[in-house]
Amino acid sequence: MGAIIDGKLWAAKTKENIRTQVEELKKRGLVPKLTVIQVGENPASTVYVNGKEKDCAECGFESEVLRLDAAVSEAELLAEIEKRNTDKAVNGLIVQLPLPKHIDENKVINAISPAKDVDGFTPVNVGHMTIGEECFLPCTPAGCIKLIETTGINIAGKQAVVIGRSNIVGKPAALLLLQKNATVTICHSKTQNLKEICMDADILVVAIGRANFITSDMIKPGAVVIDVGMNRNDQGKLCGDVDFAACKEVAGYITPVPGGVGLMTRAMLMENTLKALKIQHQL
Ligand code: GUN
Repeated sequence: MGAIIDGKLWAAKTKENIRTQVEELKKRGLVPKLTVIQVGENPASTVYVNGKEKDCAECGFESEVLRLDAAVSEAELLAEIEKRNTDKAVNGLIVQLPLPKHIDENKVINAISPAKDVDGFTPVNVGHMTIGEECFLPCTPAGCIKLIETTGINIAGKQAVVIGRSNIVGKPAALLLLQKNATVTICHSKTQNLKEICMDADILVVAIGRANFITSDMIKPGAVVIDVGMNRNDQGKLCGDVDFAACKEVAGYITPVPGGVGLMTRAMLMENTLKALKIQHQL
């Protein structure tokens, strides 16, 4: 049976470390502040945003959650973003996705100052990440890498397979694994021989959004399995993209859902916000 990678534990350690640093910063009159903008009332977004607010409190950060009506115009949203871009007290700024259909998501992301883009979604940060320069890394992929590294395995030279090619998770996760010198394969809905490709993976990162899609016969014995999925099963219970109960018998290391990547993603947002403050104050 494989070892369970405890996202709760690693996220708690990360936040504890942040909190200690914040206590020092407070002595100098500096408090990290994150602004989260939510448009409309998508229930999943509300859960995520509430989680971010709670994380800020735990880390000793200030937070502002701006909840805008689903009917808000794109121009109004852009104006709210611009206000935070120029507000020196705001270190990190994120707009919770998805946005209502009448708003152009790319235009909104582009409006966020790259210096406050703690989600790592702006083209400037994506570009820096792609060429391996200092930047804000997107939180979920960064969290995946941290969790892989907690196993002590050396990523360099390993066969890494990423299932999913979204801009938020799959693509950046593949790039970060490449930067760590893994041999990376990206799979998606059109991939043929998915099972064979997965069976070759020393590191398998799954972000496709289909409950229990990865079965134990798709996993190489001893592999590191990182499950980014957040689905509801037939009973309405939160579950990942990986059939955890069966796959943990084959994998060397595996993340559970809940209690895995999601918590680490949240901790990475706190790390990025602290980093934003440090850069903005040249610390
Ligand atoms: N929606 C789902 N995940 C995310 C995320 O990491 N950041 C933002 N802004 N929206 C999301």
